[in-house]
Amino acid sequence: MFSCRILLVLLLLCILGIDVASSSSAKIGKGYRLISIENAPNGGLVGLLQVKQKNNIYGSDIPLLQLYVKHETGTRLRVHITDAKKQRWEVPYNLLPREKPPALKKISGRSSKNSYTPEAKDYAGSELIFTYTTDPFTFSVKRKSNGQTLFDSRSEESDPYSDLVFKDQYLEISTKLPKDASLYGLGENTQPHGIKLYPNDPYTLYTTDISAINLNADLYGSHPVYMDLRNVNSEASAHAVLLLNSNGMDVFYRGNSLTYKVIGGVFDFSFFSGPTPLSVVDQYTAFIGRPAAMPYWAFGFHQCRWGYHNLSVVEDVVESYKKAKIPLDVIWNDDDHMDGHKDFTLNPTNYPRPKLLAFLDKIHARGMKYIVIIDPGIGVNKSYGVYQRGLANDVFIKYGGKPYLAQVWPGALNFPDYLNPKTVEWWGDEIRRFHELVPVDGLWIDMNEASNFCTGLCTLPEGRICPNGTGPGWICCLDCKNVTATKWDDPPYKINASGIQAPIGYKTIATSAYHYNGVLEYDAHSIYGFSQSVATHKGLQGLQGKRPFILSRSTFVGSGHYAAHWTGDNKGTWDDLKYSISTMLNFGIFGIPMVGSDICGFYPAPTEELCNRWIELGAFYPFSRDHANYYSPRQELYQWKTVAISARNALGMRYKLLPYLYTLNYEAHTTGSPIARPLFFTFTNETRCYGLSTQFLLGSSLMVSPVLNKGKREVKVLFPPGSWYNVFDMTQVIVSKESHFLTLDAPLHVINVHLYQNAIIPMQRGGLISKEARMTPFTLIVTFPLGATSGEAKGNLFLDEDELPEMKLGSGYSTYVDFYATVSKGMVKVWSDVKENKFALDKGWIIEKVTVLGLKGIRGAFEINIDGNPVDDISKVEFSTTDHKNPDKLEEGRDKMK
Ligand code: GLC
Repeated sequence: MFSCRILLVLLLLCILGIDVASSSSAKIGKGYRLISIENAPNGGLVGLLQVKQKNNIYGSDIPLLQLYVKHETGTRLRVHITDAKKQRWEVPYNLLPREKPPALKKISGRSSKNSYTPEAKDYAGSELIFTYTTDPFTFSVKRKSNGQTLFDSRSEESDPYSDLVFKDQYLEISTKLPKDASLYGLGENTQPHGIKLYPNDPYTLYTTDISAINLNADLYGSHPVYMDLRNVNSEASAHAVLLLNSNGMDVFYRGNSLTYKVIGGVFDFSFFSGPTPLSVVDQYTAFIGRPAAMPYWAFGFHQCRWGYHNLSVVEDVVESYKKAKIPLDVIWNDDDHMDGHKDFTLNPTNYPRPKLLAFLDKIHARGMKYIVIIDPGIGVNKSYGVYQRGLANDVFIKYGGKPYLAQVWPGALNFPDYLNPKTVEWWGDEIRRFHELVPVDGLWIDMNEASNFCTGLCTLPEGRICPNGTGPGWICCLDCKNVTATKWDDPPYKINASGIQAPIGYKTIATSAYHYNGVLEYDAHSIYGFSQSVATHKGLQGLQGKRPFILSRSTFVGSGHYAAHWTGDNKGTWDDLKYSISTMLNFGIFGIPMVGSDICGFYPAPTEELCNRWIELGAFYPFSRDHANYYSPRQELYQWKTVAISARNALGMRYKLLPYLYTLNYEAHTTGSPIARPLFFTFTNETRCYGLSTQFLLGSSLMVSPVLNKGKREVKVLFPPGSWYNVFDMTQVIVSKESHFLTLDAPLHVINVHLYQNAIIPMQRGGLISKEARMTPFTLIVTFPLGATSGEAKGNLFLDEDELPEMKLGSGYSTYVDFYATVSKGMVKVWSDVKENKFALDKGWIIEKVTVLGLKGIRGAFEINIDGNPVDDISKVEFSTTDHKNPDKLEEGRDKMK
């Protein structure tokens, strides 16, 4: 009777949506005690943890765990906890290369002889200090320079969360957090409250094809990493915490604590000490892989649509952009070019190959590019070569020894298993074959969460035809039964999948299906899109020695090394316009800086005003693409006269700024720095910037402040202290003494973009295609604080042969220039330090103008024209291209820049 009542209460709590497991009365575990600790063979420490008290909530506790702690660099600390007796699933080391923890030893379970009473231990040279307690075992990570505790797994009796819990299908650990910490990351997630994590919002990480309009739900990617920014007495410092684990998880952030509830794998934490936001992403991407180098044209504007029914429509779109004088670099095909929605095929009627090739010749000659979509699923069709070769090579994910049957656009299909080296080879070969058929310039990999229109174990009855394509094509046509038979399909703890605690196999691959080497889909689910990006990158890299361009919907830790990302299926609403900023900024932190949202919205139909505002914002996304759904009305930018005007303005400016964006691409590739960043990346001590999600920076000096509300013709903009110059009209300046909001005019065709003081921005004349824009002369915009009589400015420029696979200095195909300027005693000096110049000289680039902004006594812009053109006031200006540190290089330097 009594236990029935408890059951009833529990049931009621569940119905009310209360998380029973995390309530204080029901701690899931009593934790572990440390029973031995010793030096690890490769440095660091290895210890043994013994469970204190077993229970069966969510399965039984693993009795012995191996703890491994290592300061892998002076700024990175690794804490790895796994079963001491049995190898467990981890993100594959070949996919994400990193040090391996020491092999598991044969263990008696008793305290080892050389164990010692541990004390707080500091490691010379490291900014992070690891300390621990033995019984219960808890650990904390501290910052050496200011003593701050960054992570602290100690729980108290009154805490709602448990000590360390480690079961086969349930892992839990918590950290305390100071109340005023600002956290960012933990995605992919559309965050209605903006970029800063919001206490008690759910953060579930499990790759899922539910559209981006689902707020606070697990979306296409999984990134179990957060950046934590703290400001103590106006001194800010940032660090990051990565839990490298691909299993589904809920992360509960309560403002003063954070709890991970993970359904498998291991605890593999890396702590990155920062202390600046930029150094955090530098350290993070040094570990997970630097962002991929993007070709120059990728920063041009892209037009896409689902429903370009035939080639003539595509040709017409390209011509219409040209006629409307709106920049366009890349034209895309969704699956309309395919034959029966099958990858690597062409529809012979609507996209006849000879005509398509002639079209590609024409646009390639202009410098434009062409990209098509490829989904992972391979249509089951006996006369389809890709499928036949796949079968012959045994490349598919299996269930019960047979390829797992699913359904997406082509109808019934099998999913390639990219963890299998044979699949990677076959996939590369299919890319090569397709490229011979159609010389595409990049690939768009979609539906790779993986998305499935059916759920469970399915068959296609003999004789039934499974429809392909849109409309009924997305209703499951297979005969399916639920697979709840195994613990992998129905784990004891239910993550909040799809935002509704859906079964984890819902509309994806059954989680008890198998990959290569017996790897369970249950474990590898969230790395599917990542593994497809790696295989696609490999395939493209082998072609014509070109720099690959890949756009992937599903991403994981490390995906940025291979692919760009767009934020998935959004809606043409003002809210979605806003949300796009936070998601984009989060992806910069995730090491995927080439990111943007479907401009004007994926569906159903944007208003004209919204599309105006969206292209104004979208022109400053790192990845700028207009894309629409099959059922949406046409929304190319020339479809409305007013949108065309906004597009010419905003994209016109983007194309002038391409050298700046491309230099940011180089910096992202070499240091991980996001192209689009939150304001706190530059103004780290300014607390008003911490939650700001309506403005952002490109690089460290260009601030974009879009209109995000219907009917508004003005915009409230936060200006951190300093002088800000309007980049469209360089005579307007805003001087801010302390961070404050100002209301600026923003008529329909105007986006406010400001350039910060002390910067040098390389710009060109712009154009309609990046290839042409790239060959125009340069202008340097130099900014000083308004009225400055003394000061410095800095900037840089990277140029290279952008289609070569590697982006690096020393190749002979690149040029890197640091620009410096000073103003002092009525004299402005501008000079450059050139590292390699062969590439620039070959191309004959020149700087035609230097514009200096902010000088005292000069109203508005002060211009210095060089190359024979008049100079406003030469007595105040000295232009030199020498390396100031090496004056004897004067002549050489001058030659270089001309
Ligand atoms: C998915 C993609 C979308 C694409 C559609 C058809 O919904 O997110 O961008 O247009 O599939 O391929």
